[in-house]
Amino acid sequence: MTAVPRSTGTEPYKLLGDPVDRVDGPLKVTGTAPYPSDVTFPSLAHAALVQSTIAAGTISGIDAGAAEAAPGVLAVITHENVPALAPGPMTPFGPASPPFPLRDNRIVHRGQHVAIVVAETHEQAIAAARLVKIQYEETASVLGINNPQAPVLRNPWGLEMQRGDAAAALESAEVVYDETFSIAAETNNPLGLFATVARWEGDRLSVHDSTQWPMMVRQTLATVFGVPESNVRVLVPFLGGGFGAGLRAHPHVILTAVAARVVGRPVKLVLTRPQMFTSVGGRPETRQRLRLGASRDGRLVAIDHEGTSTLAAEDANLDPIIAVTSTAYACPNVATHDHQVRLNIPSPGWMRAPGVAEGNFALESALDEVSYKLGLDPIELRLRNYAEVQPNSGLPWSSKALRDCYRVGAERFGWTKRNPAVGSMRDGRWLVGYGMAGVTYEWYQAPCQVSVSISRDGTALLRSAATDIGTGTYTVATQLAAELLGLDIKQVHVELGDSDFPPAPQSGGSGLATSLGAAIHDGARNVLTAFLSVVADDDRSPLRGKNVNDITAAHGRIHLVNDPAIGESYRDILARHQLERMTAHGEINPKGDGAGMAPAPPFAAQFAEVRVDKDLGLLRIARMVTAVDAGRILNEKTARSQIIGAVVMGIGMTLLEETIFDPATGRIANATFGDYLIPVNADIPELDVAFVGEPDRFTPIGTKGLGEVGTIGVSAAIANAVYHATGRRIRSLPITIDQLL
Ligand code: MOS
Repeated sequence: MTAVPRSTGTEPYKLLGDPVDRVDGPLKVTGTAPYPSDVTFPSLAHAALVQSTIAAGTISGIDAGAAEAAPGVLAVITHENVPALAPGPMTPFGPASPPFPLRDNRIVHRGQHVAIVVAETHEQAIAAARLVKIQYEETASVLGINNPQAPVLRNPWGLEMQRGDAAAALESAEVVYDETFSIAAETNNPLGLFATVARWEGDRLSVHDSTQWPMMVRQTLATVFGVPESNVRVLVPFLGGGFGAGLRAHPHVILTAVAARVVGRPVKLVLTRPQMFTSVGGRPETRQRLRLGASRDGRLVAIDHEGTSTLAAEDANLDPIIAVTSTAYACPNVATHDHQVRLNIPSPGWMRAPGVAEGNFALESALDEVSYKLGLDPIELRLRNYAEVQPNSGLPWSSKALRDCYRVGAERFGWTKRNPAVGSMRDGRWLVGYGMAGVTYEWYQAPCQVSVSISRDGTALLRSAATDIGTGTYTVATQLAAELLGLDIKQVHVELGDSDFPPAPQSGGSGLATSLGAAIHDGARNVLTAFLSVVADDDRSPLRGKNVNDITAAHGRIHLVNDPAIGESYRDILARHQLERMTAHGEINPKGDGAGMAPAPPFAAQFAEVRVDKDLGLLRIARMVTAVDAGRILNEKTARSQIIGAVVMGIGMTLLEETIFDPATGRIANATFGDYLIPVNADIPELDVAFVGEPDRFTPIGTKGLGEVGTIGVSAAIANAVYHATGRRIRSLPITIDQLL
């Protein structure tokens, strides 16, 4: 087959895939890409939510009379009249859905959905929702990560680990570091407001939903409504951003399906921007304590990392702050501790590089501090502790070019121009600082399936229940299928985002391109095998009796690897055998071990130059350089775009984003785009991106994942640059003016 990166070292493929324009670009710029909120039906009804105005307590009375009598209203559904529903399923990351809000009269967070109103029009639904009168019995709420009343879960996910004896090594270390870090809660704010359109036909349910994981939503709805999974179809061909917001079957999704069943019509619900803040999750508030022990020559002898994150009442959701602490550096003694604090807050959920971005801020800030203590260059300190092998297993990484990330990043950044003395670099009234951070992410892969068809007209159709959340999945899947089938990209059509297609994992954990790519790789091989089986006894075929290992595909035809002249086209084979198409299945069931190697995550090094005006407390990012080892890059253009977006999100986390809970009422005080700040163009400087390394040898297509790695090191790189500029060490995000004054 053409250019199949099997990493035997002999294939003619390259690191950087062609910078092909997005294949779905024309649909998007002409406004014809159907996002979930665009879906409509002739008999569509509209829903609006009523949300709790207390954080804890019970509903003591509901008066829906005025709402029910309002113009156009079809139903007001509350816990008093909701049909019985079963609990949702579990995923490896906790319950697929947070606790269903209408199960009874209990309130566990402010903004909990307490009613859904359905009306003929969107405006009528919103107007009627305001007329629903709820009486509450308020009880004391538990708010604030340091609240002594809050239940604390210890090691809830079994992530805690020990290597060697960190406590003893800290006792005897020549240099000891011990600091705490805090990071504010953040809200996922994809531009596309999350929407659900649900339609029942008998006991069959179809749902257009803003999700990153159609199979999980399908399973959840089937379980909740007690129907076979095959009766539920979840569609999301396009999504206006995800970032982790679409990794759960949120209560509003279930409520919309309930509403559609109750009124016997299709129902659409589009969350408002303020409702996004209580409905789709984000980054939980976190606290960390990090202790490092080092020798005077800069060898880490101990790491003790304790992470604490907030969690909603009665929910469970993984927040892996400490997950990569033990694999980032070659330190003999490591201990990690994982806590979650239950509060009366909406379910935090996940936000780009969940946990790991927070943990990296602590670890990479701490290393920076130690580098100044020891008088070592920050890069040199990291190189002295380079994890040549996977530190827990001792196995060689399937690929690791973090050293190249440091080198190439430093070159492009001009790191040698850095005067190591704190406060020594200036530009007029601005203090100038250079900072950097290293990034080790985690490996995540899940089973994935595709179908691959080649038709009589010589075109291919690829289908999978995977989603493209705006990252370029359609484009890279098209490129990969074209490459493996020997077709032009214009001859390949990819269909995603439909749970009726072959099952696929979430677009999350930076894992989809690799597992989908591996499934495409398998499917392409299987469809070629199917063509060979058709001509196995065909006297007229030059491919008669050939094995799939003997052939490859190019220019719409299958030919012998050794002799391109011997072969024939897909079209000729199909026509001669009077077949309309050949279809094959592709599948990958990745395992986290095997082949005597440690499957590698993506790595990166990130560099920031900042300007600080100490008198005014102003902080500007002058430029950032990100060097990434993500294995093979399928499309240089979409990959670069992913990293730039990730860096922008990291800048948001570092400088601006903070979900502010009123400590008395649990109300989110800044649940609008006027108050919750995300970076705008003027906040973002020149962002340079470089890809280094080589295709990974653990996976058939050599990729390692790109979605999150670019966010992770941004905060530490900027905070470290702020220290270099000012001598002020910031261990709390976002970095605010008062921290700089
Ligand atoms: Mo990401 S938080 O895995 O969408």
